Amino acid sequence: MTLQDKSAYGLDGVIAAETALSHVDGERGELIVAGARIDTLAFAMSFEELAARLWSLADGQPRDPKTTTRQFGQARQRAFARLPQLLAAARDLPLGAGMRAAIAALGPEPDLPPEVVLSGAMPVITTALLRTQANHPPIPPDTTRSHAADLLYMLGDGAAPPSKVRALQTYLVTVCDHGMNASTFAGRVIASTGADLFMSVTGAYCALTGPLHGGAPEPVLAMLNAIGQAERISPWIEDALSRGERLMGFGHRVYRVRDPRANVLKDAIQGLGEGDLGFAAQVEAYARAALAKRYPQRPLDTNVEFYTAILLDTLRIPRQAFTALFACARTVGWTAHALEQQRMGRLLRPASRYIGEGVGGR
Ligand code: ACO
Repeated sequence: MTLQDKSAYGLDGVIAAETALSHVDGERGELIVAGARIDTLAFAMSFEELAARLWSLADGQPRDPKTTTRQFGQARQRAFARLPQLLAAARDLPLGAGMRAAIAALGPEPDLPPEVVLSGAMPVITTALLRTQANHPPIPPDTTRSHAADLLYMLGDGAAPPSKVRALQTYLVTVCDHGMNASTFAGRVIASTGADLFMSVTGAYCALTGPLHGGAPEPVLAMLNAIGQAERISPWIEDALSRGERLMGFGHRVYRVRDPRANVLKDAIQGLGEGDLGFAAQVEAYARAALAKRYPQRPLDTNVEFYTAILLDTLRIPRQAFTALFACARTVGWTAHALEQQRMGRLLRPASRYIGEGVGGR
């Protein structure tokens, strides 16, 4: 069976919803989130403030950022108190699958909005699973800290320096929302059926985990480690491409130029004053040139995952948790889209073209 129109099967450019949350301009390499360009927003707003703004845009209910910030802390505490139930089916699974099981075990809290319950719980589950699997006890959240600072604290390195907290917050803000990406679409489809936010986020998380979407940063780091030194860049990349492999951290369904989030995250790494950006930049330059040569008609440039991998590695986040960290940020976007879908969307139900037998008695 051959696909007759590749773009139709990938739903390229199909409008499935109207949104006030974020806009991706793939030709100009521009990302607008909550009305502001990502390169401005990423260094100007806390994660909690952005969450309050996105959720307000989504359901039309104004939120006070201070109240939302306080609720985030309460949601972290609540998730920690519920860890025995949340981790019951999760602790013996690999981290990605463990996250799925733990997210699926989350449920409503009587005094907190579901979007905050879900978003607040994510770093608690992530850090508790990481620590449990390393035979260390989970660390309770400290609600006097910001969401980003508390995430680093719960990982177990004590109070992180402000430079690290800033870098993580920049990451969380930068990847918080991104138009109708695959996981957000999955979440919106579920929300469009009338299912609640817990169902929607569980499905969205599952869609995130694949290597073509949010599962890419771990393989990016594996690629950088496997290349190892400057002399091996050319043979390694040429071999991979000639085997028909995809270079992780490059290419995007919408962007035809460099993903603007790559620059933001590169700046955040530079702000840390750590990490080997020189070698990464050499790999990036070679990969872009090799892809341009191989696919002259299809621009394939650096995407967000390339510098995500380097940033999270520099922050000493274990690589098996990279996708979970992405989920910690994107849950705010997923829940905002689910709220927006519930408020103004219709049931999402596309069509398929039947290519089998039996129609009309034939
Ligand atoms: N390395 C090598 N070749 C590539 C790459 C890549 N990174 N990306 C696309 N190609 C090739 C495809 O194999 C295809 O070749 P073919 O025509 O011979 O089959 C050609 O370029 C055209 O690809 P498209 O079909 O236009 O790509 P699509 O829009 O379906 O894919 C995607 C986008 C999935 C992101 C792709 O570029 C990819 O797999 N990249 C690597 C994984 C990655 O970095 N994922 C993270 C994306 S960002 C995010 O989701 C947060």
